[in-house]
Amino acid sequence: MRINIFKFIIAIIIIAFAFSSCQSTNQDKTIKADSSENSRSKWWKEAIVYQIYPRSFKDANGDGIGDLKGIISKLDYIKSLGINAVWLNPIYSSPNDDNGYDISDYRNIMKEFGTMQDFDSLISGMHQRGIKLVMDLVVNHSSDEHDWFKQSRSSRANPYRNYYHWWDAERGKPPYRYSLFDINHYAWKYDSPTNAYYLHYFSRKQPDLNWENPKVRQEVFDIMKFWANKGIDGFRLDAFQFVAKDTTFPAFPNGFEKDFVKYYGIGPHLHDYLHEMNNEVLSKYDVMSVAEGAGNSFADAHDLVDSNRKELNMAYAFDGVDIANSKGYSLLHFKEVFTRWDSAFADNGWLSIFLANHDQARMVSRFGNDSPAFREPSSKMLTTFIMTMRGTPYYYNGDELGMSNAGFTKIEDYRDMPTLNEYQHQKNIGGDIQKFMKEIQFSCRDNGRTPFQWDSSTNAGFSTGTPWIKVNPNYKTINAAAEENDVNSCLNYFRKIVKLRKDNPVLVYGKYELLDKTNPNVYAYTRTLAGKKFLVLLNFTSKSSSANTGIDLNKARLLIDNYAESSTGGMLKPYEAMVYDISL
Ligand code: GLC
Ligand code: CA
Repeated sequence: MRINIFKFIIAIIIIAFAFSSCQSTNQDKTIKADSSENSRSKWWKEAIVYQIYPRSFKDANGDGIGDLKGIISKLDYIKSLGINAVWLNPIYSSPNDDNGYDISDYRNIMKEFGTMQDFDSLISGMHQRGIKLVMDLVVNHSSDEHDWFKQSRSSRANPYRNYYHWWDAERGKPPYRYSLFDINHYAWKYDSPTNAYYLHYFSRKQPDLNWENPKVRQEVFDIMKFWANKGIDGFRLDAFQFVAKDTTFPAFPNGFEKDFVKYYGIGPHLHDYLHEMNNEVLSKYDVMSVAEGAGNSFADAHDLVDSNRKELNMAYAFDGVDIANSKGYSLLHFKEVFTRWDSAFADNGWLSIFLANHDQARMVSRFGNDSPAFREPSSKMLTTFIMTMRGTPYYYNGDELGMSNAGFTKIEDYRDMPTLNEYQHQKNIGGDIQKFMKEIQFSCRDNGRTPFQWDSSTNAGFSTGTPWIKVNPNYKTINAAAEENDVNSCLNYFRKIVKLRKDNPVLVYGKYELLDKTNPNVYAYTRTLAGKKFLVLLNFTSKSSSANTGIDLNKARLLIDNYAESSTGGMLKPYEAMVYDISL
């Protein structure tokens, strides 16, 4: 019944998800040279989404917790990045068992984060700056402190009883279901007031909503309308691939949890529910939609986002971000996965491109090299990758500074609920705690949640109080203020490459082609659209390396390079990234 730590961490990664959107001025202009569905221009395809983790971004009132006023105070910084959409992690009322992913009131703002008035100022401040706002919608489950659940658990006859999944105890023990966050990995919690078990794929404080009940769906659509009427621009549907369930709860084979997405993902009526959501809400507003997770196959992913089916806009799949683990990863594998996904979506359906989010350790520590010599170039190189692929980039706050893993060594420094539960679980079963600590040091999502490093003052300028999670001690050198003043910083490189993408539709819509496929060190590809052709060369290693592209670089025009002194003759420096215009 127990899964290993690696699987556990992968599980967290799989759950994560997202989507979002963005903006552009060209609403429905068609790029002529290509008639495929994917060449049709949409603001959410041209968007560059910047993900803000509100708890860790900026604390305005000194209580150690980031808040909406903090974000408002940094809107000019956000605008200065050049991005045009923000995906905000949940800011609704919540007892914070899972940092806002356990919602107790979907129409109110979490006390620690501020008020609805703050929210209104935030959205208008964003819109004034041409930035769209994508909100997290967490409706696979609610908090156990939501009024619906309080009612539901109070009596079997309560009208809210069927808002959740219950298994009456006189039927015996329910068929085993695996929980991603529970101390015992067990997803049914016995509740004595009604002598029944309720289902929770995540923590005990996150009971799963019963989507099979039309009233639940109507409640969710009403919540979505409430926020859409406030003017938000999109929804990221948290853990949405899990919402539909076979409520007869058939037994699953032993060990199913090793491959739980196969059993939990894209349940019986998921597409019907999405279609209904599209019909009731999404089609009535100019909002983008993206669900976390894309099922088990390309067919699943396509079905979610095929525009003819009228469900969602974009797929957010985990195959790419899952490649790296504490043992590293192979570039050949990386190329293979991203190329396979690109070709599956070449003509129809649209993808997100990302290497990090709030459920991951830091991008540069997982996919690059966070040693002092290579942190900057490798971080910029990965940024170049994200900004030059087809699909909508989702870029996690702090990565533009090259922020790296904090790598806490003491369990007391961790805050992440599933990690703390798993620690307890390992203790209970006599697991290898040292191994566990090593693993989380590298992969725990708290690595990506340490406070944003604004400057070299106390607490990195994040808070005047005691931050809810420790600041990474490297903030004295890695921080926005220092990088602002350095033309060659990660921050200024990020601004340049964002501009390059925005100025060149070829980077958004252009056909992707992999070159020098078997090269284990360099990722080389072209993007082509309407007579424009760009070549991207990325050295993923700490050694000088070259690519065999067959392209004469003497005739190429260098557009951007992550080194101040560019290489010539095709030999790339460690982690060098170069983008050329090779249009004839
Ligand atoms: C998603 C979120 C993650 C959260 C989980 C449960 O995966 O990205 O942060 O813990 O859902 O809501
Ligand atoms: Ca605060």
